[in-house]
Order: sequence, then C-alpha cells, then structure tokens
Amino acid sequence: MMNGQQPIVPKHVAIIMDGNGRWAKERGLPRTIGHSKGVEAVRRAVKAAGEAGVEYLTLFAFSSENWSRPENEVSDLMGLLRRFIRRDLAELHRANVRIKIIGDRENLKGDILPLLIEAEETTRSNTALTVIIAFNYGARDEISRAVKRLVEEVGAGRLDAASITPDMISAQLDTADIPDPDLIIRTSGEERLSNFLLWQAAYAEFVFLPGYWPDFDANMFHEALRIYSARDRRFGGLAEQQAAAAG
Ligand code: FPP
Repeated sequence: MMNGQQPIVPKHVAIIMDGNGRWAKERGLPRTIGHSKGVEAVRRAVKAAGEAGVEYLTLFAFSSENWSRPENEVSDLMGLLRRFIRRDLAELHRANVRIKIIGDRENLKGDILPLLIEAEETTRSNTALTVIIAFNYGARDEISRAVKRLVEEVGAGRLDAASITPDMISAQLDTADIPDPDLIIRTSGEERLSNFLLWQAAYAEFVFLPGYWPDFDANMFHEALRIYSARDRRFGGLAEQQAAAAG
C-alpha cells in the first residue's frame, strides 16, 4: 500500500542475517571470514536503518541452536560480537543508538553477558534508533520462559489462569517494550523463520533477499523497504478499513 508517492517506512525491521558461510565457501575462504565480513554488513545495516527513519532494528546474531556448531565457529562468533561491542559501542552511543539484548541470559559464561549488559546500560537513555541484538535467542525458548513466569503467578495465587490474554503473554516476552516487527528480512534466499520472533511475527511482512549477508548494503535494505511498501497490510481486516484508519 503506497502513501502517495512516499514509501512507507516500517517502524520495526528484523533481520535474519544468513549466508555468511556460503559467501565464504564460494570464494574458497574459511567460514570465519564470512562472519567477519558479516559484521561489516551489520554496520551498514545499522546506518541504513537509522538513515531511513526506522525506529527498531532487530538482528539475529546467535540462536540458542547455534551452540551445536563446531566449537571453533562458536568461539569465532563470540569473538566477533565481543569485538563489535568493544569497538563500536562508543560510536553507537555518540550516534544516540540504544542497544537492547533479547535471548536467554542464564548460563552464559565468561565476559559476553557483562559486555552486552554494559552496552544496554551505556545506551539506555538514547533516543535515536534502537538496535536489538538477539543473542542466545530462540523464540520457543522465549515463549517457554514467559509461560513459566505466568504459571508461577497462577501457582502463587496472584493471577487467575482464565484471565490470561495475548497482551499478558506479550508482556512476558523479552520484547515486552518493543513493538512487533513490521518487516522481517532474511538474506541468502532461504525462506524460513528458524525459531525467530515466532509470536511477534504474527502480522509481519516477510522479504527474502537472494544476496548473502556479507554483501548486505543500503541498496539491499532499500530494495526490502520498496517491496514492503508495495504490500497490502490488512491485519486480518479489509484493505478499505486500513485506508480509513490511515486517514
Ligand atoms: C548466518 O550465516 C549468520 C550467523 C549464524 C551469525 C551472524 C553473526 C554475525 C554477522 C556477527 C556478529 C553479530 C553482530 C550483531 C555484531 P551462516 O553461517 O548460517 O551461513 P550459511 O548458512 O551460508 O552457512
């Protein structure tokens, strides 16, 4: 749906950054080079999102299932995230970017959790783009943790099970204070959600781009925004109602 000639900018864009390994393989390079090129693409994505006027950008950095990758690849990915926070935090803070982390924080070893918390604390009051890093994140795990908390409330007699609503479930998720994603982009041509934001994606538009993540740039971002702008979002209602609501 177009708003005059102006493309509609989604408030929240979430990205499944896929294809680092294939990008490297096609060049006869080790997978780790694909991941480090992927970090450069992260920087371009943050810049492009901020410049486009997007308010929330969620990046799927490490899934709860990624621990099953070979140990050296897991430690490469941890190292890259660590270096990203160490090197880029000051610049992101200067750019008024707020960083938030979603995912399971229990049982994380070493300095990675303190670093992520430092990034959140430092940028807490910033008001430009919010960058949400999904780390040790799996949507089923997130929903299970939310359900456990609600069941505990019921068990303690503080909550009546019959009164549980979808909003109350949303409020228990890691994304409690973040609006649902409007647009979910996945690179590398794979067309799956892979346990990412399952609950929050209920009305998201999906755009699958053929390029690999290390090649992601402002052009690819704008291509996804153009595709999004041309979509007719109805949220279960009728197109006419959406047009009326938009004024
Ligand atoms: C997918 O490629 C990418 C990942 C599993 C990790 C993405 C992580 C980064 C880009 C670096 C750290 C993140 C931040 C926010 C600084 P793949 O390995 O699954 O590629 P393949 O499917 O081609 O093998």
